[in-house]
Amino acid sequence: MASLLNYTFLFFSLSLFIFTTAPSLAQTVAPGPSAPPNNITAILEAGGQYTTFIRLLISTRVDVQLNSQLNNSFNGLTCFAPTDNAFNKLPAGTLNKLTEQEQIELILFHVLPRFYTTAMFGTTSNPVNTQASSSEYGADTLNITSSTSQVNISTGVVNTTITNTLSSSFPLAVYSIDTVLLPYSIFGAKPPAPAPAPKSPKSGNKSPSTAKSPSSSESAPADSNSGINSRGRAMQWTSSFVGLILMSVIFRIF
Ligand SMILES: *[C@@H]1O[C@H](CO)[C@@H](O)[C@H](O)[C@H]1NC(C)=O
Ligand SMILES: *[C@@H]1O[C@H](CO)[C@@H](O)[C@H](O)[C@H]1NC(C)=O
Ligand SMILES: *[C@@H]1O[C@H](CO)[C@@H](O)[C@H](O)[C@H]1NC(C)=O
Ligand SMILES: *[C@@H]1O[C@H](CO)[C@@H](O)[C@H](O)[C@H]1NC(C)=O
Ligand SMILES: *[C@@H]1O[C@H](CO)[C@@H](O)[C@H](O)[C@H]1NC(C)=O
Repeated sequence: MASLLNYTFLFFSLSLFIFTTAPSLAQTVAPGPSAPPNNITAILEAGGQYTTFIRLLISTRVDVQLNSQLNNSFNGLTCFAPTDNAFNKLPAGTLNKLTEQEQIELILFHVLPRFYTTAMFGTTSNPVNTQASSSEYGADTLNITSSTSQVNISTGVVNTTITNTLSSSFPLAVYSIDTVLLPYSIFGAKPPAPAPAPKSPKSGNKSPSTAKSPSSSESAPADSNSGINSRGRAMQWTSSFVGLILMSVIFRIF
């Protein structure tokens, strides 16, 4: 009778140990964030007035790069999406005069390598890096100033303001603008430079490099529930520890 009781007790201690330890092991194996990554072209399509921008995103393959970046990034992305009307305001032939590489630069110039709410624009220091801020693309930056009612964007060639928010949930913010952001390195004071001879005719297929990664000081949003997780893990380890103590007590007594 006593030994049956011992075995029952041992069994319960063992199960307690396994049961409480298993979930924390499973947690470390599980893939990253649970929220599905956002799809930039899907958001723009829903907006209904961004067909030129979508066409350029796809033809330059920047859409693929951005969607996969969103999948992996802890900083998120911010996109300024010019309306079709904004493209129509450009002098005729502006886009066609650009080389393939310059079109990639133009599109990357509309993307910031982190997630910004409109409120966060109030605390950014200028100039702000874009996805086109690598040396490969002429160090294109934006100046962004904001008040409670307005966010102004300046490229040094054009000024504009955010007119509408299409998406503002981490990791992707998309803001509508009525003017195409023309980078200074392409459209600045000097006359448009003749296109440098491409090293290979297929250079456009090369995945455009990303901007240098910004400091991690503002990257809080991704980790908002890590406190809860670690508390839960601590509780699991505590109960595993109690199970271990119970087991060692049993072995010592019998
Ligand atoms: C993103 O959305 C577009 C349009 O809705 C769709 O064609 C594409 O397959 C989507 N891409 C991913 C990676 O889900
Ligand atoms: C997102 O990441 C997961 C796992 O890391 C991968 O299986 C999936 O194919 C990725 N999706 C895209 C659109 O890159
Ligand atoms: C934004 O630009 C407008 C002029 O277009 C100006 O009146 C306003 O003060 C600017 N606001 C900020 C916060 O820079
Ligand atoms: C952007 O801001 C920086 C720092 O305030 C300033 O030096 C620069 O002239 C500005 N550029 C433009 C194009 O407004
Ligand atoms: C853009 O705004 C700045 C002041 O914020 C001004 O100095 C500049 O002339 C403006 N540029 C254009 C092209 O309107």
